Amino acid sequence: MWRRLRERLAKLRERPTHHVPPELPEGATPGALLEALETWRNANAERYARFFLFERPMRVPRADRPLFDQLAEAGLCAHAGASLFRPHVRLFALDGKWIATDCLSHADPDQVFSLMFEQVYLVRTMDIRETDDVLELCVGSGVNSLFAADTAASVTGVDLNPRALRFAAFNRALNGADERLALHEGSLFTPVGDRRFDVVVINPPFELVPEGATWFLHSHGGEDGLDVVRTFLGALPAHLTPEGRMEMITWSPGSAEGPHLLPLIREALPEHHLRVDLLAEGDLDEHVDRFKDHSAYDAFRARLAAKGIDRVHFVYVRASRDQARGVEVRTPIQAITRCHVVADAWI
Ligand SMILES: C[S@@+](CC[C@H](N)C(=O)[O-])C[C@H]1O[C@@H](n2cnc3c(N)ncnc32)[C@H](O)[C@@H]1O
Repeated sequence: MWRRLRERLAKLRERPTHHVPPELPEGATPGALLEALETWRNANAERYARFFLFERPMRVPRADRPLFDQLAEAGLCAHAGASLFRPHVRLFALDGKWIATDCLSHADPDQVFSLMFEQVYLVRTMDIRETDDVLELCVGSGVNSLFAADTAASVTGVDLNPRALRFAAFNRALNGADERLALHEGSLFTPVGDRRFDVVVINPPFELVPEGATWFLHSHGGEDGLDVVRTFLGALPAHLTPEGRMEMITWSPGSAEGPHLLPLIREALPEHHLRVDLLAEGDLDEHVDRFKDHSAYDAFRARLAAKGIDRVHFVYVRASRDQARGVEVRTPIQAITRCHVVADAWI
């Protein structure tokens, strides 16, 4: 699945697009629009996927024009002459919510992160309670925060990328959550000062990138993929309430001994119980091969080898004080499979 995604991404970057983030027109009632879209999607599942997931233009029959004119008014697609429409976003339907992200053909570093397996797994697994003040760092399209906002007392989302925040604001309005999600621009905890939270949620940038290489902000994790995570974990304890929890999903560099991420979390949260779900494991070269033509690649690859890194681990980690300090490692095959059924259809 990951290889398929990488191949698709490489192909779409060959013909880049630059669309303005979507925005609901003044006074629009997203409820009626989404109902009409859902009806159309149910009757046209394959065409929906080709258009809103695989980014292919489509001829729209006269009967469907009013719906597509409305979608175009919100910037989700555009009329391209005669009966032809082009998608301007990827639009995901997940467990009752609609989430717009950038097209994969948006090849600039500020591309807003698509939905994939990790969002499905995180939103279905994270432990959010009614009294929780939740902070999501690296909020992106807002998908995880919008699900948290269904339950939590308050949700705050932070992202460095203004384009991501425009998508998150759109998705918040689309899903009728304007009152329940506050959005701030800035790096990690900076916009929230010294405020403490009951839960901090994060799906950080995680790809291993050689120094000097250009890569998407959503995935640029520095040489070993852990740059953002290290800064995050350093500041995390000062932003958690005494019983505060962390929900993280990410890829981590590692070896046969396990993900290098885990000792870092243990150091930051020495008294927490850690639940670690091992979701997948991949060969390091499959993740870093895309940089093999970069001048710094050989030295970068050699340094990773010297650190004993030969693979990447896909992990979900929940840190909580509900149980005594300890680590519980699991591979919940059935839950993983159920999430793949949803996410594999998107690529
Ligand atoms: C892997 S994406 C996750 C997006 C979203 N949470 C999701 O799960 O779909 C990582 C996000 O982190 C943001 N980001 C990168 N560095 C950041 C930083 N230092 N502070 C805040 N956000 C950052 C990127 O703009 C991107 O939206």
